[in-house]
Amino acid sequence: MSNVLETKGLTVTFGGLNANDQVDLAVPEGKFVGLIGPNGAGKTTFIDAITGYVPMSAGTATFAGEDIGGFKPHERAARGLVRTFQSLELFEDLSIRDNLLVAGYPTKWYSFILDMLRLTPKNAEVTERVDWALDLLDLTDSADAMPTDLPHGRRKLVGVARALAAKPKLILLDEPAAGLDTAESQKLGQRLRTFLDHDMSVFLIDHDMGLVLSVCDYIYVLDFGQIIAEGTPAEVRDNPAVKAAYLGEQAGEVQAQAAEQLAGGVGETTEATL
Ligand SMILES: Nc1ncnc2c1ncn2[C@@H]1O[C@H](COP(=O)(O)OP(=O)(O)OP(=O)(O)O)[C@@H](O)[C@H]1O
Ligand SMILES: [Mg+2]
Repeated sequence: MSNVLETKGLTVTFGGLNANDQVDLAVPEGKFVGLIGPNGAGKTTFIDAITGYVPMSAGTATFAGEDIGGFKPHERAARGLVRTFQSLELFEDLSIRDNLLVAGYPTKWYSFILDMLRLTPKNAEVTERVDWALDLLDLTDSADAMPTDLPHGRRKLVGVARALAAKPKLILLDEPAAGLDTAESQKLGQRLRTFLDHDMSVFLIDHDMGLVLSVCDYIYVLDFGQIIAEGTPAEVRDNPAVKAAYLGEQAGEVQAQAAEQLAGGVGETTEATL
């Protein structure tokens, strides 16, 4: 099986800090790959680097067999490498459908497309893709609503649908489940899995461990810019280095749980935090 995305030694330096440090990572075609790690580990930076939003200081990034290091963001998007943003940036004065339409033209930059939308009739093929994306995320009923009309969970879906409307080969999702409750997050996971039935591969960053462990085929763990572990969900869950990285971050929470257990004598074990 070939890899749709592959990085070798990918390094991104901000000042003296290696936000990504020699990252070797692969997304096989048709697979669902996750990237987890504590806050500030360098996860978003990785997406920024492969989509061309920040320059790589060293290493290579290959997409569908082509070295993409020299390409601009829109050139990468046109090849089928499409991302969402951690901070949901919807166009608040456009309907949900129009939010998707502006992203349906993968070769153009957003502001330019906005102008085009006003000047030219809507392209049938783009409209079809937008309808397809709305349908895949159960947003058809909300197509004519404005972003502010929707609850947070559905707004997050719009962000994903907007990337989907470009019909990417690989969709990169930066914390799509942030702010969702467990049920919404699980439902999102089921929807994301269906993307694989449409000639797509999925790359997911999220802090919701339940989501990541249940939907991914393979998971990489980043800490201080470096891959410290990788494997199947079961392998990653049981990896001591991963537990240590997360326990470091969640030490306060774990101590509080431990104190609670000592006081009450019952309750969840600290294992449940991973
Ligand atoms: N444009 C930038 N300029 C300087 N430093 C940056 C820049 N972007 C990110 N950083 C730094 O790089 C490191 C990695 O940040 P990044 O946003 O990639 O982490 P993350 O894993 O996505 O974290 P989170 O889980 O909080 O989203 C952090 O120390 C951050 O402060
Ligand atoms: Mg981030």
